[in-house]
This record gives sequence, C-alpha cells and structure tokens, in this order.
Amino acid sequence: MVVESNEYLKNELKTATFKRTCGCGPTHINCMTAKEWMVSQIGVWQFLYEKRDVRDKNKHPATFPISLAKKVVSLFSHEGELVVDPFVGSGTTLVAAQDMNRNSIGFDLNDQYIGLCNERLAQQDTFNKCKQIAITEDARNINQYLNENSISLIWTSPPYSNLLNRKRKNKSRRDRDNEQLDKIEQYSQDERDLGTYSIEKWAIAMGDIFEGMLPLLKPKGHCVINVPDFWMDNKRITLHIYLIDEMRKRGFELRNTIIWDRTNIVNNIGIFGWPSNYITMGTTFEYLLDFWKPPIQ
Ligand SMILES: C[S@@+](CC[C@H](N)C(=O)[O-])C[C@H]1O[C@@H](n2cnc3c(N)ncnc32)[C@H](O)[C@@H]1O
Repeated sequence: MVVESNEYLKNELKTATFKRTCGCGPTHINCMTAKEWMVSQIGVWQFLYEKRDVRDKNKHPATFPISLAKKVVSLFSHEGELVVDPFVGSGTTLVAAQDMNRNSIGFDLNDQYIGLCNERLAQQDTFNKCKQIAITEDARNINQYLNENSISLIWTSPPYSNLLNRKRKNKSRRDRDNEQLDKIEQYSQDERDLGTYSIEKWAIAMGDIFEGMLPLLKPKGHCVINVPDFWMDNKRITLHIYLIDEMRKRGFELRNTIIWDRTNIVNNIGIFGWPSNYITMGTTFEYLLDFWKPPIQ
C-alpha cells in the first residue's frame, strides 16, 4: 500500500468529488430498504465484535465494533459518499466504510494508529471503487484537506476527556488478571491529545474541532458521536451533557439520542460500592449522539 504525504493528500482531496454511486432518490437519506429502516427504528442498539475487530489493548485501548460503525454508516450515508472520522484510532470506521462502498477519511494524532489503520485496510479483499485514507493529523486541521459541503457523515468516538489518563485499578481488571492493571492506557501524552484534557477543556476543544468541520458537512449531514458518562473520584461525569451543550453552541442541532447497550459484551460484573454506595459499571452503555448540520432556511 502506498502511503501518500499529507501535503500531497491536501491537494488531491481538494479536487476530489464524492458522488453517490447508488440509484436512490434525491431525498433519501440512505440506501436502506423499508425493512432495514424498520429495524433501525429501535433506539437501543447491541453489537458483537467480530474476528477482524481490534480487541488487543496493546494495539489500541478503545475501539468500537465494526458492526456498530456499519450501522451508523448505512443509516446516514449513501454508497459513494464521503464519511469522515476525526479520531479514527485503529481505523474501524474505515474498515466499515470499505465494506459498505463508501469513501472515507480518518484522522488521528498518533502515527502508530494510522499504521494500524493501513494494515487493516490492506487485509480487506474488496473490489469496490471507493477509497479509504488514514492521515496522521490533528483533528483541528481537517479543513485544510476538504472542501465545503463535501462530507455526508461525520462519525467518531473521541477520547473521553481524561478518563483513560490514570492507572487502571478497578476490581474487574484485577479479577481478570489483566496485564493492563496499573498501566495508563492513554493514547499519548501529546498536548494536542484530547485524552489529556480536563472535562471543561475537553468540551471547548471538541467544540473548536466540530465547529471547524461544520462548513465541510453537507446541510442535513449527520454527525454522530459516541461517548459514555463515567465515574471519577466517586462523581458522575456527564460527558454527554457537556458535549450536547457545546455542539449546540457551535451550530449543530441534536437530532436523536441512541443508547449503545453493551451489556452483552462487558466483562465480569463486580460488586462496586456494595453495600453502601450504588454505582453502576461504567461501560454497560454508551451514548450515540446524533447531531446534524441544520438545513439552509
Ligand atoms: C476512542 S479513540 C478512537 C477509536 C476508534 N473508534 C477505533 O475503533 O479504533 C480516540 C482517538 O483519538 C485520537 N486523538 C486524540 N486527540 C486527537 C487530536 N487532537 N486529533 C486527532 N486525533 C486525536 C487518539 O490517538 C485515539 O486514537
């Protein structure tokens, strides 16, 4: 696989067009049949990981399943259109887009993760005409690569503020004899890495990044962001509320809230807090916040 320089990609992408290759009507928001659409009306989703998913935390500490990415891509884009993931990590969005005949571009600060994306994409044996590109770049610079109104869907899972930026201590990890115990699972200590930020600083940085991408998104284009809430120092950190408030301030409209029910994939359930402090396992569900760029009035 040839990996092009960022400067080369900037020029190439500015002249690229991402036209639908399907035969759907102009007002359709996706290529789904009525039956597929009907199944998608349920607002609580569950998924399983498959063999191609990256579950090794030494490779990447926080990946979502390919099946989840495929569902979001199929709901909010057409074949041939462009899907962008500003925090692409191990490249799950790109793998899903490749499966589903969408063009896709993923950005990540960490060069090693971009290497992993390219490895995963090279393993796929598909013959579709769409391209998937992984770029080592700060998400703040995405507008240097793409034209206005070129993106049909933004889909991502950002760093969850500084959730991972502390030593892993919890009981389930001890019980599992997990080699991550006592390790900091953070992506990097780079000062541009949103995973090193306090919640307030994180919300502003997220707002800056998505406000910068808003002109690149087509009107009525969706921007779906996966975040959990979590416990830190016995306080509930409502990341999703910070994010909704900030995205609204930056011109996005919240269209929908979907719950990703993870109870079918979580590891051992512990007895955290028993018998005096009721807390739930942090990872039993996450939010899929579905925003869009409001239509031109
Ligand atoms: C939750 S992970 C994404 C995982 C991805 N969904 C997957 O399935 O592999 C978040 C990613 O954001 C990256 N990141 C952190 N700060 C960034 C920034 N300023 N610009 C681009 N990427 C950043 C991290 O390196 C990390 O890989």
